[in-house]
Amino acid sequence: MSATDNSHGAEPTRRDFIHILALATTAVGAAGAVVPLVQQMNPDASVLALSTKEVDLSSLEVGQAIKVMWQGKPVFIRRRTAEEIETSEDTPLSDLKDPIARNDNIAANADAEDKNRVINPQYIVVVGVCTHLGCVPLGTSPGEVRGDYGGWFCPCHGSHYDNSGRIRKGPAPQNLEVPKYVFVTDSSIRVG
Ligand code: FES
Repeated sequence: MSATDNSHGAEPTRRDFIHILALATTAVGAAGAVVPLVQQMNPDASVLALSTKEVDLSSLEVGQAIKVMWQGKPVFIRRRTAEEIETSEDTPLSDLKDPIARNDNIAANADAEDKNRVINPQYIVVVGVCTHLGCVPLGTSPGEVRGDYGGWFCPCHGSHYDNSGRIRKGPAPQNLEVPKYVFVTDSSIRVG
């Protein structure tokens, strides 16, 4: 071995240094690639925000209703009067066209009694899509026709829903769906 050949000696040569630098750069690059990959696997905050909808009900007066959009669908929320609650609670199951609750918060086979359609009886929350052919029923804005049962009316082919969003008359086969939701406070809910 010559005096100038120290490639196997204790001191690293220039070539060794380039190899070390290349390896270090590769390792840093690989670590950097893992971070975005992990970030991609976590649901983005904007995606989470789109999948749920928080609604402040504090300004909703008794007897009023509002429509909000959630996942591209209208959701009707009505703050029912004491009389409306009583009428819906007193309706016998035998009067209902669809005996199933259709409430995504409880068992799929629960019956359509009013108590199975609500969390707080003051508020009825339903997806505003007619179960016949998908029109958006009337009855949420002030002065709109609410049908023969004081809830919502779908003018497309004449389906009448009651104050609990249950189909009472017309071609629609099912009650309006109650979406998944929770009360975040006494006067606000999160849908989805
Ligand atoms: S779509 Fe509502 S009655 Fe036909």
